[in-house]
Amino acid sequence: MRLDPFSDTYCSDPAKTWKRILGFEGRQVLYDPDLDVWLIAGHDNVRAALTDARRFSNAATLAPLRPPSDAAATILSRFDAPDVLVSADGAQHTRIRAIVRAVFPQASVQVHQVWGALIAEHTSRLVDQLAGHESADLMRVVATRLPLLVIVDILGLPTDGKALPGSADGFASLVWGDFGAFAQRQAAIELVQLWRYCRDSVIARAATPDGGDGLIGELLRHRDGDDARLTLDELAALVLNLIVASWGSTSGALGHALDHALADPHRWARLADDEHYLATHVEESLRHSPVIDGWLRLTTTDVTLDGVTIPAGSRCLLLIGTANHDPRVYATPGRFDPGRAWLSQHLSFGAGPHYCIGAALARLELTTVLRALARRLPHLRLAGGYQRRFRPNVAVRTHISLPATGIAGGCPQGHDARTRSPQ
Ligand code: HEM
Repeated sequence: MRLDPFSDTYCSDPAKTWKRILGFEGRQVLYDPDLDVWLIAGHDNVRAALTDARRFSNAATLAPLRPPSDAAATILSRFDAPDVLVSADGAQHTRIRAIVRAVFPQASVQVHQVWGALIAEHTSRLVDQLAGHESADLMRVVATRLPLLVIVDILGLPTDGKALPGSADGFASLVWGDFGAFAQRQAAIELVQLWRYCRDSVIARAATPDGGDGLIGELLRHRDGDDARLTLDELAALVLNLIVASWGSTSGALGHALDHALADPHRWARLADDEHYLATHVEESLRHSPVIDGWLRLTTTDVTLDGVTIPAGSRCLLLIGTANHDPRVYATPGRFDPGRAWLSQHLSFGAGPHYCIGAALARLELTTVLRALARRLPHLRLAGGYQRRFRPNVAVRTHISLPATGIAGGCPQGHDARTRSPQ
């Protein structure tokens, strides 16, 4: 069985391939000779692998799927960030995860209290910037910018955007994408620059009397100068992890949620007024169109799953898209239906010990953006003739662009229109 993730078919509609895999001779653990990975499909199998951190290691999750070019490899040899969360296993992962849990709100009520105003403010400013335009690429203007502004503000880094190297999709394309040699080299340079930026920022903040503002300050105070608790390099790698983990994934998820919303004017109108619909729209978008639709693990031993034995040391691609489209869990899985039952069974934020620590934050960013845009730009529509295309990638599914029109018919300046209108 071949996934063929860089093909036109997969890049325009991956759900067709998920359906084919789910129906393949009743077998859902299959070897893909092109990618040299084991494909793990179906809700139960993907969940079993995600939650079994002992036999399915995260050690190779961030190792490039294809060998990088010589030039990129030379540059990447300067990337010496320690493994912290998403690429760490066992005691190292448990220790760092406990530190993050202590300083990073994860319950939705708390996330709303702590970061709700910050997200609303950045969203409002971005929507203001649409003023005077008739059309815009929503990926470029809103979806890729908001998650970066939010995470750097939360960390306590400058939000002017000038200091930060890299792009929302550069890292994902380098590791799981189809970059040519030139783009690989560029992405490798940006990754090393971003790592150095994180390390320099942490070192500078560690030299201040109290560590300063934001999450970096809190982590420094939590560390209390004790390397056994957390080294400065680990703290810097954590900062890098948070930026990379939140930026591309949340911007991709914003693209999917906006695409589903703008596909139907009734949905767009409901998002402005109906908070219940807004929450279920976001959840169904996360299920239907998972931005992380495949995720790599490495077997530490021979593992028998669904009757198939995967040898020790094999790379496995956990097909989250097939889990979310498994007809044994979701009836008519290809249909976008925010009213469906068992919405939260999806595996878009993972499961088990590595479950996404930013899930509540991402949900809040998604609802804030959709509400603000639907209220302030009621006439927004996808541009006529728009052809949906996703970046070629085995793990992260993001729109290349999302052109929309109808901005001039709205009221993009100022805050929520109804707070300014007479009641
Ligand atoms: C819609 C947006 C997002 C999606 C779909 C998403 C998805 C995921 C998934 C599938 C995992 C599990 C990885 C694994 O099992 O190895 C994960 C882990 C993680 N996510 Fe997210 N994420 C999103 C947003 C965020 C945000 C906003 C942040 C932080 C501010 C974040 C930080 C992390 C971190 C640090 C981990 C690693 C946790 C660990 O290894 O213990 N993510 N995310």
